[in-house]
Amino acid sequence: MAKKKIVVLTGAGVSAESGVSTFRDSDGLWENHRVEDVATLEGWYRDRKMVLDFYNERRAQLPQVKPNAAHIAIASLEKDYDVQVITQNVDNLHERAGSTRIIHLHGELTKARPENCYNEMDGFSEESVLDIGYESIHIGDLATNGSQLRPHIVWFGEAVPNIGKAIDAVEQADILLIVGTSLQVYPAAGLYAYAKASIPIYIIDPKDVPVRDTRLMHIRDVATRGMQTFIETISKQ
Ligand code: OAD
Repeated sequence: MAKKKIVVLTGAGVSAESGVSTFRDSDGLWENHRVEDVATLEGWYRDRKMVLDFYNERRAQLPQVKPNAAHIAIASLEKDYDVQVITQNVDNLHERAGSTRIIHLHGELTKARPENCYNEMDGFSEESVLDIGYESIHIGDLATNGSQLRPHIVWFGEAVPNIGKAIDAVEQADILLIVGTSLQVYPAAGLYAYAKASIPIYIIDPKDVPVRDTRLMHIRDVATRGMQTFIETISKQ
């Protein structure tokens, strides 16, 4: 029998217990910076060095943090289910926990791309994206097309190239699981609307969630314990 398809949409909350800050639990500041300064194209053109330093620090922190039991539980679902992770996170903790199918909606810290490499369809061309691991990007680091390298992060106001793949995955889901996202940022926040009418939707979050949907089961807990509850619940079905 074909395995059931679980689509897992994650946000900053899944990495919180690894020690990675969430975005909206600290007065709208992200690691003491205003989002407009470090996560917009305007901020980049205003002060490239500051933006590079900010993401260089986030990247340098990555090897210091480890996947937590929630990332590991999500990866372990692959034993019994056909699992697609869709994450808004720019960390690599799902990969390091062993998940094999991951769509990064908002980019990846371990990658860079040229600042001038746009195409109308996707916002940038996939071939121009470079793996840089945990290395820093400096002013003067140029791509082969001669333009400055920038972090491979989707900033506010930019297109979300992977949203089409994410919608396709959600449309195919037999179970949708949403973990640790405030569902404030679109288009990611609207993805659950593409789920088939008949499927169950679980949300793991210790706080209230902005979703009113009769299919929704809210597991009001942190991600690590919430994942245990989720696995116990679906294994009985
Ligand atoms: P937010 O910071 O907006 O939301 C984090 C959510 O995680 C909140 O609902 C918290 O209640 C919840 N949470 C906190 N601790 C948790 C825990 N231990 N277990 C489970 N949940 C917990 O983060 P996102 O929704 O991911 O964009 O933010 C979406 C996007 O906004 C980010 O991808 C980022 C940001 O600007 C870019 O970087 C482009």
